[in-house]
Amino acid sequence: MNHPAFAGNTAIEAPAWVKHRKLIDWVQRVAAQTKPARVVWCDGSQEEYDRLCAQMVEAGTMKKLNPAKRPNSYLACSDPSDVARVEDRTFICSQRREDAGPTNNWIAPAEMRSTLNGLFEGSMSGRTMYVVPFSMGPLGSPIAHIGVELSDSPYVATNMRIMTRMGRKVYDVLGEDGEFVPCVHSVGAPLATGQQDVPWPCNDTKYIVHFPETREIWSYGSGYGGNALLGKKCFALRIASTMGRDEGWLAEHMLILGVTSPEGRKHHVAAAFPSACGKTNFAMLIPPEGMNGWQISTIGDDIAWIKPGKDGRLYAINPEAGYFGVAPGTSEKTNFNAMATLKENVIFTNVALTDDGDVWWEGMTDEPPAHLIDWQGQDWTPASAKESGRKAAHPNARFTAPAAQCPSIDADWENPAGVPLDAFIFGGRRSTTVPLVTEARNWTEGVYMAATMGSETTAAAAGKQGVVRRDPFAMLPFCGYNMSDYFDHWLNTGERLQQLGAKLPRIFCVNWFRKGADGKFAWPGFGENMRVLRWMVGRIEGTARGDEHAFGVSPRYEDIDWSGLDFTQQQFDEVISVDDAAWREELALHAELFDTLQQGLPEALERTRTTLESRLAA
Ligand code: GTP
Ligand code: SPV
Ligand code: MN
Repeated sequence: MNHPAFAGNTAIEAPAWVKHRKLIDWVQRVAAQTKPARVVWCDGSQEEYDRLCAQMVEAGTMKKLNPAKRPNSYLACSDPSDVARVEDRTFICSQRREDAGPTNNWIAPAEMRSTLNGLFEGSMSGRTMYVVPFSMGPLGSPIAHIGVELSDSPYVATNMRIMTRMGRKVYDVLGEDGEFVPCVHSVGAPLATGQQDVPWPCNDTKYIVHFPETREIWSYGSGYGGNALLGKKCFALRIASTMGRDEGWLAEHMLILGVTSPEGRKHHVAAAFPSACGKTNFAMLIPPEGMNGWQISTIGDDIAWIKPGKDGRLYAINPEAGYFGVAPGTSEKTNFNAMATLKENVIFTNVALTDDGDVWWEGMTDEPPAHLIDWQGQDWTPASAKESGRKAAHPNARFTAPAAQCPSIDADWENPAGVPLDAFIFGGRRSTTVPLVTEARNWTEGVYMAATMGSETTAAAAGKQGVVRRDPFAMLPFCGYNMSDYFDHWLNTGERLQQLGAKLPRIFCVNWFRKGADGKFAWPGFGENMRVLRWMVGRIEGTARGDEHAFGVSPRYEDIDWSGLDFTQQQFDEVISVDDAAWREELALHAELFDTLQQGLPEALERTRTTLESRLAA
């Protein structure tokens, strides 16, 4: 089904600034297979971005927002079936099944390639194939890695320009034979000649596929977020985690922040919370009333690449250049810095449109506007919402915004050397059981806590919400290899650093989401999380005290700085308490996880579980 416009189209020839023969051959091979009507080699310029956005406005994919309210910004609304990552359609196709491990979907590479060949045959017919060169990490820096995404979605091309360093300069770095990760993406909606397009083409059949050995990504059928912006979860986590395993570094689902005390002492922490569990918010935190003088600076909000330095410390960089953040719940009160980042140059996805051409989502203001067009294009009023329960914005509605626009951006956020880490924080969304904060006794027990972390599922992935599942290191959907080997890699990293004689980062476990008997969050969260972070800084500096219990050390009421907040000892007990019965059940769930991970599970973790069990019994 060769599209007529394809025949004789010379755009398939690379422009003069692309000098990489292998890359050009690959682009031509994929074009021959997917048969796009034309090929556009993206240069990453503002002019190109504006042109693609204008085309999407024309096609109904995007609306241009009121420039007086939200300059240079757009709203895209997706197909209602294409709103989140699809974990059950995500595959790690390593040669050996054991290398993907029991937590990943696996299909033999040869079989998957044959399936993909069928799906991609002519899949871009009638569409434009964009060649999107991007760098994860600052251009040309020794820690950066390059990818090229071939996509038939202009939404992808424009979002990639915000989320990565995208454009012509990447070819200068690549030269004639530089290494890049090939990423092929198709929405899987070929257009017959004369056929009218839909605003958000996609396909009910979806495949998000990784070949870790050959470092390739193939994505079919979805145009949304992590399914389609392949530099993010597919490359910077799934492929990069396997690179890290082979080369001795870590690719993690972590924010990175700097915390500076009123006296000017600065520490850095990286924190892993599962999807939609608070990374963006914590990374941009503004200290609350009463804690003036403390300062948080943002290095990254979703992904960290972490490498051991010669001094035995771990250094973290943010491979991304933008935020693809959760909109609902974001307000001037909860995340002032995010709201400031969103003033201009933003692509909003699946939020509601106000009558004056701006955006709105649940939680943005206390009072909702009197009338909106919801994310599905329907009229929405507070009354209609009450009646039908329909949300104005999809719960996984997102904003795409340049990181450099964030007022709290750290001066070192693009430093190729990264920032030295003093602590790791792991935290799930748990309405019960898990206390506000615990410091692990040592590296091994910290790895254990991270490995056994549970969290309630959120709207960031398709499927049931609010069910507790184990999400080791917040990496369950993102680890590109066997989870047991991943734990081993973490344990080994600690050992290696210790041999270098360095102080290991401390490991903390947090839970901002515990609920009271009334079903409401018992911890105020957001900016108030600074009080917990301050305690951690005290632990790092050796000044803060706490109470030792079965799982480690937690602060007592008097160990937390409460200035400016009315929070009673009784309220604190509700968020910090460890219930023995609940924890016996929790440990049984850890055992269940270890059963599924049996093969290759580091013995130290099973041993730690037994130790915790006996401590709890004592
Ligand atoms: P991904 O981008 O999916 O990886 O998510 P994330 O971890 O960056 O989550 P984000 O910070 O966007 O927060 C997700 C949701 O949790 C938003 O609706 C926030 O408003 C809410 N949230 C964040 N921090 C807190 C907190 O401390 N307490 C409570 N109750 N809610 C929070
Ligand atoms: C997540 O789901 O963890 C995200 C959004 O950060 S996505 O890019 O869709 O993966
Ligand atoms: Mn994420």
